[in-house]
Amino acid sequence: MAVIGIMDSGVGGLSVFREIRKLLPDEHYIYFADNAHCPYGEKTPQYIRERLRAITDFFLARGADAVVLACNTATAAAIEDLRSGYDIPFVGMEPAVKPAALGTKTGVIGVLATAGTLKGSKYLNTKGRFEDHVKIVERVGQGFVELVEAGKLTGPEAEGVVKAALEPLLAEGADRIVLGCTHYPFLLETLQKVAAELGHGDVEFIDPAPAVAKRLVQVLSEGAADDLPAGGVGQGGSAASGPEQGEVELFASGEYGKLKEFYASL
Ligand code: DGL
Repeated sequence: MAVIGIMDSGVGGLSVFREIRKLLPDEHYIYFADNAHCPYGEKTPQYIRERLRAITDFFLARGADAVVLACNTATAAAIEDLRSGYDIPFVGMEPAVKPAALGTKTGVIGVLATAGTLKGSKYLNTKGRFEDHVKIVERVGQGFVELVEAGKLTGPEAEGVVKAALEPLLAEGADRIVLGCTHYPFLLETLQKVAAELGHGDVEFIDPAPAVAKRLVQVLSEGAADDLPAGGVGQGGSAASGPEQGEVELFASGEYGKLKEFYASL
């Protein structure tokens, strides 16, 4: 049984965790929501790298064999630093530009993500590979993370926030829209509703989480963990005894109740 650390700035990474668990139901999971420092979207890469080192030390102290950055912004800022500093595998988020580019009929794809992700070299490299073939239009999902953290996934407020980011992408002709932040899949129902109201009910939203879950399976089967350094950070948590098969431990750097409640609603 592997012990897998999964992190996000908040509850967004649970959209990745639910896909991972479908493929790997029997592993031991430690989910860490860094919600005392959420949102990550506007933070500097240096700040995010420091948070990720502290969170990785926490996972290692609890016996993690692998770490999933279930956060596009954290992946953009910190995954290279973590891979060079620690001797365990790290799996990060990939902006799903490729499936969007392959599927588009209008030749225009939209990307919704945080400012940090859109500025990151990982995304810019991916974009560079595809922009000769398709037009790529982008918007920051301004206010999306805050909605999801507050559990406001549907209703007039969510629709208003979603519409402001989605409408310009649809107006430019995007028929495939990449969800480039792990919080955004929780707004899928609202995204679809708003798109339909704007006359674009056939637009497809692409969530990279299933592909990331497959990548984790591959990484674990390659087997790689040794030389685990130790450390600690964080608060909250559930089961404190040794890891048991299929167990899920939840931790938050800030409000724990919100995470627990959101997890229970999955
Ligand atoms: N869920 C995150 C992401 O995938 C972080 C969003 C944020 O904290 O701004 O980018």
